[in-house]
Amino acid sequence: MEVNNSDGGSPESPATENMTTTSHHHFGDLNGSDDAISITVIESMKEDYGLFVWPCSVILAEYVWQHRSRFAGVSVVEHDVSLQLGAGTSLPGLVAAKVGADVILTDDSDRLEVLDNMRKVCELNNIKCQVMGLTWGVWDKSIYSLRPQIILGADVLYDSSAFDNLFATVKFLLEKSPGSVFITSYHNRSGHHLIEFLMVKWGLKSVKLIDGFSFLPSWKANGLSGNIQLVEIGLSDVGKK
Ligand SMILES: C[S@@+](CC[C@H](N)C(=O)[O-])C[C@H]1O[C@@H](n2cnc3c(N)ncnc32)[C@H](O)[C@@H]1O
Repeated sequence: MEVNNSDGGSPESPATENMTTTSHHHFGDLNGSDDAISITVIESMKEDYGLFVWPCSVILAEYVWQHRSRFAGVSVVEHDVSLQLGAGTSLPGLVAAKVGADVILTDDSDRLEVLDNMRKVCELNNIKCQVMGLTWGVWDKSIYSLRPQIILGADVLYDSSAFDNLFATVKFLLEKSPGSVFITSYHNRSGHHLIEFLMVKWGLKSVKLIDGFSFLPSWKANGLSGNIQLVEIGLSDVGKK
């Protein structure tokens, strides 16, 4: 059995008894410049959305890496935290933590194996992140204390029946942290104006919308396909006094 490691990271022999494998993901100069980093992710060969590194995750993780100064804790805001929604194998959040951000990795509260895998991956990479269950559209007590400046989401726009719950959570978090943004990478399968529609519906604005392949190094892009876009979203100014 072989796992397709989408950013060219080399798979190790899978441990078939527990159906897991590891993949390695590199950021920076492949020849080993000083600040290059590497992250190892545990994936499951059982089919599960949250236990696989999806192409959107590779793209968002590379974006975080290339904008690492935004994540490196240089903000004037005390307790400047980045939070990843639907993090699954968590590659973008792990990159943010590796470059200096305080990171909270979250996924569906009911998917305990996904949350457990996040803790294992943090340990494996010697990265400190908080891991918590956060189900979109559910107002557990813990969500009220969150004040993330940057919210990340890779491949969280794949099921239109979940969009309302996802954006209810995103808007709630954006409203609690002035100046915060939601950065998400998604497959634009319909080729239509999904983001524009969602922005109007939720009173949000797209600050930046780019082709996910426009900034990927070719050795990563070669292993990926699809129409993947990356968008930075903030609160709309419309209606503000
Ligand atoms: C397609 S996977 C993407 C995983 C990871 N971000 C990546 O790109 O590799 C979607 C993720 O969203 C999570 N998810 C789905 N529905 C959710 C919900 N209602 N609340 C929170 N997380 C959810 C899944 O558990 C899964 O980790």
